[in-house]
Amino acid sequence: MGKRVAAYCLTGSGNTRKVMEEIGKAISSLGHGFSFYNVKSKAENIGQSDTLLIGYPVHAFNAPRPIIDFIKRLPKASKPIKTYLIQSSGEPLHLNFAAQSRPLALLKKKGYEVLGGFSFVMPYNIIFRHKEEMARRMWGVVERRIPEVTKTILGGEPHFLKIPLWSRPVSFVLRIEQVAMPLIGRHFKANGDCVSCGLCASSCPVGNITLEKGLPKFGKHCIGCMGCVFLCPRAAIQPSLFKAWKVNGPYSFKGEAIKDKDIPPYCRKAYLRYFHTFEDEAKTPQK
Ligand SMILES: Cc1cc2nc3c(=O)[nH]c(=O)nc-3n(C[C@H](O)[C@H](O)[C@H](O)COP(=O)(O)O)c2cc1C
Repeated sequence: MGKRVAAYCLTGSGNTRKVMEEIGKAISSLGHGFSFYNVKSKAENIGQSDTLLIGYPVHAFNAPRPIIDFIKRLPKASKPIKTYLIQSSGEPLHLNFAAQSRPLALLKKKGYEVLGGFSFVMPYNIIFRHKEEMARRMWGVVERRIPEVTKTILGGEPHFLKIPLWSRPVSFVLRIEQVAMPLIGRHFKANGDCVSCGLCASSCPVGNITLEKGLPKFGKHCIGCMGCVFLCPRAAIQPSLFKAWKVNGPYSFKGEAIKDKDIPPYCRKAYLRYFHTFEDEAKTPQK
């Protein structure tokens, strides 16, 4: 009998959703059921699934607050539900793995069969914009990884990331970001280039933006996902203190992938390690 996989996703600029949709396509193509939801959903029917995927972008080396709230809202597992986390991050640093420790611990407490998770590197939506060629190479790695990731999920095999011990206190301290963002986010503003299209409001994953006289008004619940800033077709949203870190406009994920020699110096070693780990693995014939 086919598996029933329920996937719940939080996304700001679309990266995590893009990865999870790809996993969903692979699962469906193998004849299994795949249902995709926003983490805002109530997850009332979770008991009808045998596998649960929870996806989110890494924010300051943590899982964002709506993910923690979602897990807290989940009903206690009345039967074993195999559960994996799917995270996307801008840097291929092991420090990002620490973002899995809190959600996994909470899920375990609720009786879910916690089997670990996966970490995908996707282009930055804050601080600086990656080159298109870099985004293309990242996406190429996602595509190569999907068959193996899908096999692990459908097989119900454990896949725990090795979370470095020292990374836990760093991640813990940086949870301060979750306190700061609602305050900083209140001061986001749209400038005169705003065309009142409402995309910022409709894409905000926590419903923090409303339109008032055609202009976005930012409420008290910003999680700093940068979705509004990134997706605005007119680059009109000014992210307050993060002005210098503004990144705008979707990546195409098309064209040529960047060559090793052209990878910029920032985290170069870590990107090379990440790309080669999965690209070279894909070249090795399967036994
Ligand atoms: C507020 C904020 C904090 C972030 N912190 C990290 C981080 O700690 N480590 C990292 O590698 N990427 C970080 N990123 C980058 C995102 O995790 C990355 O671009 C992700 O793929 C975005 O996914 P989304 O489009 O689904 O929101 C951060 C992005 C934002 C907006």
